[in-house]
Amino acid sequence: MINIKLSVDSVKPFISDELVNNFQEKITHAHHALLQKTAAGNEFLGWVNLPSSIEDAFLDDILDQAKTIAQKAEVYVVIGIGGSYLGARAVIEALQNHFSLMLPGKFPQIIYAGQNISEDYLADLMKILDQKDYAVSVISKSGTTTEPALAFRLIKNHLEAKYGKEETSKRIIAITDEKRGALKTLADKEGYKTYVVPDDVGGRYSVLTPVGLLPIAVAGYDIKKLISGAKEMETFLKSNNTIESNPAVLYAAVRNALYVLGKSTEILVNYEPRLFFLSEWWKQLYGESEGKTGKGIFPASVSNTTDLHSMGQYIQEGTRSIFETVMSVEQSHQSIKIPSDKENLDGLNYLISKSITEVNQGAEEATRQAHVDGGVPNMRIVVPEINEENLGQLLYFFEFACGLSGYALGVNPFNQPGVEAYKKNMFAILGKPGY
Ligand code: PA5
Repeated sequence: MINIKLSVDSVKPFISDELVNNFQEKITHAHHALLQKTAAGNEFLGWVNLPSSIEDAFLDDILDQAKTIAQKAEVYVVIGIGGSYLGARAVIEALQNHFSLMLPGKFPQIIYAGQNISEDYLADLMKILDQKDYAVSVISKSGTTTEPALAFRLIKNHLEAKYGKEETSKRIIAITDEKRGALKTLADKEGYKTYVVPDDVGGRYSVLTPVGLLPIAVAGYDIKKLISGAKEMETFLKSNNTIESNPAVLYAAVRNALYVLGKSTEILVNYEPRLFFLSEWWKQLYGESEGKTGKGIFPASVSNTTDLHSMGQYIQEGTRSIFETVMSVEQSHQSIKIPSDKENLDGLNYLISKSITEVNQGAEEATRQAHVDGGVPNMRIVVPEINEENLGQLLYFFEFACGLSGYALGVNPFNQPGVEAYKKNMFAILGKPGY
């Protein structure tokens, strides 16, 4: 059963059913192309069947590895960038306590490196690592990306100085290509435990491979439920291909229809701060998949109600080129009562019969109405609650819809030629031999 629902009621004032239905044929082709691998980028469609092809024994091995790490380390450093980083962080931050770094727990605390080139960030990190027992995963499909390679060089030196060479090699896990790349060569030479990023799964579609699964398991979350949620969604989305029956088809059709009408920016909205990194993951997924050949919806995000006090003005009254997709969470995990106050000087006693979630949902509904009135079409992805199973469904939903939407737009959603341009310049500026 799929738990995630898509509501497009608040798009209807802006686009006709006819315009949306015009995309059915293109998306039917796209659906076929994803399943039968008949279109551009078909060498990177390994993610399509991934959830249903993962065996329990594979997950058990990852769980065993996670247990070994937890026995050795109070801190686990995940080194990676882009698709080798965002998926794990999206799931971990969606599930963990908001203040987890201040709470000692049963599982290692997860921190991140290799996602920037900030000297201060890395220097602060080294100082923290001086004081902690730690282990590391270095994640890079190509094995040659500068940011994680640089962070890994520093951390490897730090580990060797702290634990000696032999113990260091037991504290590093490399997740990379099966055969190629500098990281693979290094991992083989040093004898690190390695996991493979499948050849046919691109970085931004790799969250359900060891790239995401190992860090998520180390953080103590249930990767079996995550995969089982993704599998439910996979089965459902593969077996239907109409706008009426398949929410990914509907999402892809509506966003393409809105794009045709000039709505060229999509804002993914959350009302739960724990979903901040899910939006970051989504931005990479859609930005890198669709933004090419002069086309593509610009993926942006806001975290409300925080951003209603910063971006709210623009969304309400700025350039009318935007639409919103709201991740609407129905239930929180905990409840706290709003206390009554005899003097009521803050005027909040009218809220005491309500839960905080009801207040948050009131803000969400009020914002939807205001933004629709202000000319911003609004879709809602309704998530009953945030847990591993529903996150698995959401991740797969967004991936599948992205493949459909990219094909319907007329681009190859599985390459990223534009990412190379800055790298060439950077290598030339920094004096890399051969550039
Ligand atoms: O989606 C992608 O392909 C990219 O974002 C990559 O994940 C990112 O550039 C990191 O690449 P790599 O895993 O090769 O280090």
